[in-house]
Amino acid sequence: MKFAVAPGPISSTRSADVVRVVHSPADASLAVDQLRTSGPIVMVPTMGALHDGHVSLVRRAQSIGARVVVSIFVNPLQFGDATDLAKYPSDIDRDLDICRDTNVDLVWAPSVENMYPSGFATRVSVAGISEPFEGRHRPGHFDGVATVVTKLFSVVRPDAAVFGAKDFQQVAVIKRLTRDLGLPITIDVAPTVRDHDGLALSSRNVRLDPLARTRALAIPRSLVAAAKAWDSGVRNSRELEAIVATELGDVDIEYAAVVDPSTLAERADDSTSAVVLVAATVGGVRLIDNVVLD
Ligand code: PAJ
Repeated sequence: MKFAVAPGPISSTRSADVVRVVHSPADASLAVDQLRTSGPIVMVPTMGALHDGHVSLVRRAQSIGARVVVSIFVNPLQFGDATDLAKYPSDIDRDLDICRDTNVDLVWAPSVENMYPSGFATRVSVAGISEPFEGRHRPGHFDGVATVVTKLFSVVRPDAAVFGAKDFQQVAVIKRLTRDLGLPITIDVAPTVRDHDGLALSSRNVRLDPLARTRALAIPRSLVAAAKAWDSGVRNSRELEAIVATELGDVDIEYAAVVDPSTLAERADDSTSAVVLVAATVGGVRLIDNVVLD
């Protein structure tokens, strides 16, 4: 089944007092099967701490008249570092209010025990595209993402799933995994939602103090500078990287690179499209962002 998913207003005007929530995979599977009779199922996987970026994914799914299943699960497998996991923001009551107000059809909020019962021993590992950038700086991260997404998909069996362009490499890993395993799921990608000042919305932004938040604006500024340079004819990766590095100034850069969007490797030549990938730590908070140039 193929979907032409386009952004747009919420198609449903229905509003409920509560949102339906299930926890175990068996309950999720059953509840989704009930929903399936009333329309295509589109899944929006999240780790909670929902913001307008997540809501935009839900709205995109609703705009094609789909039943929307949101999963909320802070996946321990994708955090290398226990302190990063412990610091990850979480507020399930607020998340459920947002899902209710957005008319989400079903929330699946499994516990760690629900997802990884004792004896769980399987890992899904996507070679190649997962290895540079996030893969190199967060070893094991994409195995954790690929494993949880495979499990989410196999329980919910959605017709389509929506992911955010903000996590550029994550989208590439999930598309590869879906293709390689022959999963009959359309992967749709929604544009990055930004705050009024350009900072990409992220659950981690709540941990930025006011000074760090101001300093973090160097990240979107660097992407805008690259896009402007591209529009004025600059095509060379090294030149674009130099412009990005200048704008990033003194933020603690993990990587800031201009590469081929389909391989994440060096571009064959200056005539091809490009993606600028940036990861930086500001005030102890790790942020990623990107812009596609074509
Ligand atoms: P999380 O960071 O909660 O993000 C859930 C989804 O929201 C992802 O597809 C992400 O790209 C998207 N998203 C986040 N910020 C966004 C923004 N500013 N604009 C648009 N979309 C945005 O990504 C994960 O969770 C996890 O790795 C997950 C896929 C759920 C697997 O655990």
